[in-house]
Amino acid sequence: MTNDQLDCKVLVTPTSFGRGDPALKNAIEKAVREVVYSPFDRPLTSAELIPLVKDIDGYIAGLDRIDESVIEAASKLKVIARYGVGVDKVSIPAATRRGIAVTNTPGANSAAVAEMSIGLMLSLCREICRADRGTRKGEWPRVSGIGLRGKNVGLIGFGSVGREVASRLKGFGCRVLVSDPQLDTKVAEQLGVYPTPIEELLAEADFVSLHASLNPGTDSMVNAGFLSKMKRGSFLVNTARGELIDEQALQVAIEDGHIRGAALDCFRKEPPGKDHPILRLDQVLLTPHIASHTDEAASAMGWMSLQACLSVLRDEKSPYTVNRDIYEKKS
Ligand code: DGY
Repeated sequence: MTNDQLDCKVLVTPTSFGRGDPALKNAIEKAVREVVYSPFDRPLTSAELIPLVKDIDGYIAGLDRIDESVIEAASKLKVIARYGVGVDKVSIPAATRRGIAVTNTPGANSAAVAEMSIGLMLSLCREICRADRGTRKGEWPRVSGIGLRGKNVGLIGFGSVGREVASRLKGFGCRVLVSDPQLDTKVAEQLGVYPTPIEELLAEADFVSLHASLNPGTDSMVNAGFLSKMKRGSFLVNTARGELIDEQALQVAIEDGHIRGAALDCFRKEPPGKDHPILRLDQVLLTPHIASHTDEAASAMGWMSLQACLSVLRDEKSPYTVNRDIYEKKS
């Protein structure tokens, strides 16, 4: 251990941590006494986490299930630094009770997620994946799609990602409708988008793209009622959280032709399992929760989560703390 090294052990679980940016791993390995990387190439269950968290001081966390049992087992833990924005898989009340700081990386992956959302919209418009699959098989599927120009796109959620999506869609000549209970009307005006009541948005949008965080109010918001209010023949895109969608209701809406297609980057259970009925639908484009996976976003999430983790381990307040009330309790 060197003089300026923290006498701490840190668990790192994101699969893309330091990929394409070796300086990040060097920095963390220099900064603390011991670093343990996840033995799995996917998010961890709480049962898998329990033996790994027993003697750690800091935790740079992927999309692992960090429930109360994990937090109870981590008796020395001071900080859970989420590598990403969503903290829905972390039991914040349990962390707060124990005085553990939960931090995230706001803005670090917004451009990546926005670009993926637009890519999925374009792929749906032009059936790029079906054309690729057919061409590989020796078929010559000369699919004829629809254009994005002039279409109405409804964004559910107008935070950092929603805004990045909106500004790009303007370049495609789309009319962008937005719905968000915390809508910043000034930003909406600056970006030239239309704040629209949800029912109106669903009735008008050719594409509905989800950019809301997961909380009890948004869990399963895309249910049978929501889908029936969407315009007939419209598309759904989800790069936010799988739990926003009632997947069975979506399957029914696609099978009966009301919804023309969907692009899903996330699922209620990840991975969804080979027998998940949605996997059989040709009109659904599926990707494995990779919207934030670019070199640039991985680097930004890595450095921001490392900085947040080290600040708390040095007994400093991190500006990215989600449960800021822990600092009030301590002072
Ligand atoms: C996020 O930002 O929460 C993404 O899902 C990546 O972790």
